[in-house]
Amino acid sequence: MINKKLVFSGVQPTGNLHLGNYLGAIKNFVLLQKELNCIYCVVDLHAITVFQNPKELMKNTLETVASFIATGLDPNKSIIFNQSSVSAHSELAWIFNCVSRVGWLNRMTQFKDKAGSNKEKASVGLYIYPNLMAADILLYKATHVPVGADQKQHLELARDIAQKFNKDFNCEDFFPLPEPLILKNISRVMSLRDGTKKMSKSDESDYSRINLKDSPDEIIKKIKKAKSGSEPIPDNLKSLEEKPEALNLLNIYTEVLKSNLEKTINEMAGKEYSFVKNKLTELLISEICPIGKEIKKLINDETHLREVLNKGAEKARIIAEENLKNVREKVGLI
Ligand code: TRP
Repeated sequence: MINKKLVFSGVQPTGNLHLGNYLGAIKNFVLLQKELNCIYCVVDLHAITVFQNPKELMKNTLETVASFIATGLDPNKSIIFNQSSVSAHSELAWIFNCVSRVGWLNRMTQFKDKAGSNKEKASVGLYIYPNLMAADILLYKATHVPVGADQKQHLELARDIAQKFNKDFNCEDFFPLPEPLILKNISRVMSLRDGTKKMSKSDESDYSRINLKDSPDEIIKKIKKAKSGSEPIPDNLKSLEEKPEALNLLNIYTEVLKSNLEKTINEMAGKEYSFVKNKLTELLISEICPIGKEIKKLINDETHLREVLNKGAEKARIIAEENLKNVREKVGLI
């Protein structure tokens, strides 16, 4: 490897990826792929921490791979595979279950949010999920991890685990401490109906999100209906921040263009919402619709998608097995 930097990221298998998934993660994966060695994993073992319909899970895993490829990830360049097909993930996760502390996991806010008031009924997997995530990353000794802000705490845990492992087993620098690449500007694309809520596939209203598979007509309708205001767009960030829906539209526009918010504010200040919406609609149709078309094409070729996963898993396994062998030695497992 010429470059010692290694990028790893995981994406949960969901069918119907939306603009938030795309701008928050996959679009950046494609940019990173140009510069660095990258491993992108569809984390099916993470998905089953809450019950998944088996048929749906398979379909969603394949659709996620299709979306990766459709957005420009190249299986010949980056390693693309699904987590469960490389069993070293589970094995290292078990070892990490024994390195990680209950006190550390108890601080994880995502578990508290997801388990809600009924912690007793949550799966054990959901509780120890951050240890598995640490295993995903450290199994490849990845140095850089693009994640949304909501995963920052889990990444800190991965660093804590790496550090404790290195100390406990007397092997300074064995695991690198992975750095988050918190996706700048926005790592949060908000709902089109409520600028304070994240765009989410579980929102009841399909009008709250732009799906990668939406048709031009759907995009036109959704942006038209997106919540907005009656006053013109303000000319400074401070006033804009008081209008979360406006901020969200400008943020989306900025991110699709890979521009910066200041520039967008300069372009849009004083304009009516209809102006912003028209611009955004045009931009989204040209960026999203070709991807959606490609996804639809790819999901019809299951054999090809499975082959991509198999080949990716083979490549991942080579790195994973070698590192796991060294871990086992360190721990004293024969
Ligand atoms: N937990 C991440 C999420 O829900 C997905 C994930 C699993 C991940 N393993 C990872 C992300 C490793 C980055 C690195 O979004």
